[in-house]
Amino acid sequence: MRSVLFLLLLYSFSHAESFITKEEYAAGLYHNPRGVGCHLCHGEAGEGKLIARYKEKGEEKAFIGKPIRKLSFRDFYDKMNSRIIGMPRYYLTDTEIQTLYYYLHREEFQRAVQKSRKVN
Ligand code: HEC
Repeated sequence: MRSVLFLLLLYSFSHAESFITKEEYAAGLYHNPRGVGCHLCHGEAGEGKLIARYKEKGEEKAFIGKPIRKLSFRDFYDKMNSRIIGMPRYYLTDTEIQTLYYYLHREEFQRAVQKSRKVN
């Protein structure tokens, strides 16, 4: 009996670390997506960011990470699976792409969930 309890305890401890919330997982992926963090070029909330100003043939130019939080999932998904000049290629899984989309739209998702809970 004792050893069963011990095993149970051991089991729950070894799994304790994997209990991160969906929010924590999504935030982690956005900031550290097996490569350069999205926030560095697209801003904390995907609002877009000025990465650098430079001069080309005497002309002022700006390197900008576009806003990415207003795209439809279809467009976001397609872009994440295509080559974009100025952006690293990440080769993310479908689930990872969904998680990043969730991260950028989490407040909207949470509002929708609360609304539907009120109705039911
Ligand atoms: C080194 C800077 C950099 C990083 C890091 C980066 N991007 Fe980008 N991203 C860009 C640039 C530059 C563009 C192209 C902007 C343009 O077309 O003017 C772009 C375009 C995009 C687009 C298409 C936007 C549109 O409307 O066409 C999406 C979606 C996107 N990035 C998502 C991400 C996500 C998600 C991450 C993290 C996994 C990420 N990016 C990381 C620089 C970056």
